[in-house]
Amino acid sequence: MRLDKFIVACGVASRKEAAQAVRRKAVTVNGVLARSADMHIDENSDKITYCGEELEYVKYVWVMMNKPQGVISATEDARGQKTVIDLLPERLQKMGLFPCGRLDGDTTGLMLITNEGELAHRLLSPKRHVDKIYRFTSARRITEAEIALAENGLTLGDGYECLPAHIEADAEGCGGLITLREGKYHQIKRMFGAMDNRITALMRVKFAEIELDTALEPGEWRFLTDVELECLRKH
Ligand code: URA
Repeated sequence: MRLDKFIVACGVASRKEAAQAVRRKAVTVNGVLARSADMHIDENSDKITYCGEELEYVKYVWVMMNKPQGVISATEDARGQKTVIDLLPERLQKMGLFPCGRLDGDTTGLMLITNEGELAHRLLSPKRHVDKIYRFTSARRITEAEIALAENGLTLGDGYECLPAHIEADAEGCGGLITLREGKYHQIKRMFGAMDNRITALMRVKFAEIELDTALEPGEWRFLTDVELECLRKH
């Protein structure tokens, strides 16, 4: 791997900054000053320091965030709205992370963020039907007949036939948990719209086997544990 690419992958600098650091003699490879930014190193065995700090190479990063309201699930926004990536420390922002799937701006809760494109792609593939669970609040009570309708696959206003969705209503009926096996645009809001109801709050609490860590306040994040990652990889 090229030295500058390695430094970028470690999240400490851009490629340009890495090249500048090499010129400033601020990078060593196995204790010797790096010759050039494009020299090749072995990311598994060579010891690289950047400005005195030994770098640890981590190829893939998986983060879970409790997405707050008003933050968008994208890497950047043309209108300058804050994104989930903006809430991460600079070091992670430099690693080319992206959200694994989308949540609406006003939806809160579990957002997975990674740089492992292939696995993210697999988990999001419409063919895989990965379960996603949301806690919802609706404008009016949801009836047993509507729950049965959703279980059988609702038809949306535009004619799209949803896959069966499981709803567990709270005792009061104006909220509960809904499990989707797909992820169409505004899907839950449109499903409730098709039942002449309206979603007033939506929070994702589970994606595949990964549950939102209740210790995370809105906007907070943590790395996935090895066990969580293994569950995702096995999925
Ligand atoms: N369904 C919605 O309507 N919105 C979301 O953010 C996720 C699922």
